[in-house]
Amino acid sequence: MCGIVAYIGHKPAEPILLEGLKRLEYRGYDSAGMAVINQRIQMARTVGRVRVLQELLQERGGFAGTVGIAHTRWATHGEPSERNAHPHRDDLQNGHGIALIHNGIIENYVVLRTYLQERGHTFTSDTDTEVLTHLIGELYDGNLEAAVQGALREVTGAYAIAVICEKEPDVLLVARKGSPLMVGVGRDEYIVASDSSAIVAHTTQAFTLEDYTVAKLTRDSFRTTTIDNVPITPQVRELEVDLGQIDLGSYEHYMLKEINEQAQALRLCLKGRIDPREGQVVLGGIAQYARELVKARRVIFVGQGTARHAAMVGEYLMEDLAKIPTEVEFASEFRYRNPIIEEGTVVIAISQSGETADTLAALKEAKQRGALTLGIVNVVGSSIARETDAGVYLRVGPEIGVASTKAFLGQVMVAAMLATFIGRRRFLAADYVSSLLRELQSIPDSVERVTQLSGEIRQVAARYAHRENWLFLGRGHNYPVALEGALKLKEISYIHAEGMAAAEMKHGPIALIDDGMPVVFVATRNSQYEKILSNIEEVRSRGGHVIAVATEGDEEIHRHCEAVFHVPDISEPLQPMLTVVPLQLLAYHIAVIRGKDVDKPRNLAKSVTVE
Ligand code: G6P
Repeated sequence: MCGIVAYIGHKPAEPILLEGLKRLEYRGYDSAGMAVINQRIQMARTVGRVRVLQELLQERGGFAGTVGIAHTRWATHGEPSERNAHPHRDDLQNGHGIALIHNGIIENYVVLRTYLQERGHTFTSDTDTEVLTHLIGELYDGNLEAAVQGALREVTGAYAIAVICEKEPDVLLVARKGSPLMVGVGRDEYIVASDSSAIVAHTTQAFTLEDYTVAKLTRDSFRTTTIDNVPITPQVRELEVDLGQIDLGSYEHYMLKEINEQAQALRLCLKGRIDPREGQVVLGGIAQYARELVKARRVIFVGQGTARHAAMVGEYLMEDLAKIPTEVEFASEFRYRNPIIEEGTVVIAISQSGETADTLAALKEAKQRGALTLGIVNVVGSSIARETDAGVYLRVGPEIGVASTKAFLGQVMVAAMLATFIGRRRFLAADYVSSLLRELQSIPDSVERVTQLSGEIRQVAARYAHRENWLFLGRGHNYPVALEGALKLKEISYIHAEGMAAAEMKHGPIALIDDGMPVVFVATRNSQYEKILSNIEEVRSRGGHVIAVATEGDEEIHRHCEAVFHVPDISEPLQPMLTVVPLQLLAYHIAVIRGKDVDKPRNLAKSVTVE
């Protein structure tokens, strides 16, 4: 949700900023812009993708200068247009030559705008961001750091910003509250970005800015303070991401790369966490809270999107294996619902990015009400990871495709390990746990086998890609998989798809089924197999085209369906990690066949840092 990148050093800023924007483009892609200081501020902004900005810069002969800022936008206030694109300038007539980029929302911008208009400022965009730029200009009296601190004391909302000023051409100011921002520390250079993917090509040393802090960067030094000018010392750490992980390689799309990486990602997720001799799961990140977890009376998972679907699988796992009453909430609803948190309640936030604003807010609410909070998060050092009392990282590597795939598998795998960790300490028999652990360890190989169905799935996709309405149905543990299958299809191919519990279909949605509607069933061998066969017949008899995900060796099911994707057999609670894979591939191939931009679907952003 908006990507920002900024540079100060001795190298030309423009290529570094452009490269950084391309890495961050998954965060937003409706418009882009750049400003570089070369005595005066040179600025270019455009509607559309980063490559359009690149062409514009080429036409203009490029920008010289070694200090600059750049932005790729996902619109919140104001339509995607050149004048609403970032950077924003302070007053062009009476200003100080200040340019600013921003990720987040300034909530009190209306009041501030009115105040500034009364003071003679003229605005040229519809954005909240421009207000902040003018406010900094209004407060500027020769010290950019003081002006930024002063302005940030007046705003409410969320921000990650980078600011440059013609009058202080050797200074880059950055600050954050609520939106992610990381400062890469190079040799006589700094590169600042929304996430590490734009930094690692230049340096692996970096620090994350805390909320309400400002960093003043010159080429060879930095100073960090709170917005009240109290000095603080950030912790510089080594980034673990390498370029190979974030490059597309020979793949056409990140989504397919990430689907194919899932088996390896799960191996990394499991590594060192299963102790077969002790028959136990080892989760260092939560070990100190083992007693509280064993005594927990209630678990509430919070998350959004795909992460919430993983949480729904987590609910089954937690109740099956740990026997703790569990609920799943949309993080966005939980926080405004006056939730009841009693003694023994554990709130677990699930998030790939660790930055989703709703999930972060829900977590803070839970913490404030006294819950023990855990995180199941992918991005190390992200806001949610830092806000929770403890947590377990996914370790599935960076996920760049906007449609989440490998993170889902990682989230479910961690939920399964967590439930086993607790269950074993409560009452699960050692033998049962040993066989469960063996199954967990077998999952990466099984996922690899399912991924090999890609060609077969593409053929089926070609048969049905023109259909505009789809249903995805599953029961029990595979009900959340049906929701996830429908979400994947909607997200990237813009087809109307609904996921639901198979039995619920009879209570209304069955009216939608007409001749030719594709209905995807997750129909693996499990306790509800017979029931799902009945549901399949109900659809067939009304003209629906049935596609099923079934268990290897189940040939009988072919008699009921037009297409079947087989997955290896595994015990019921763990099936979602296999059954979801054909649905990811189905959505992927349909979107490609329909000519959609799979990695950058319209209107979406990977990391939703506004509520
Ligand atoms: C956005 C993305 C989804 C993702 C959701 C939660 O909506 O498009 O793919 O599942 O946010 O993101 P998180 O980073 O918290 O898992």
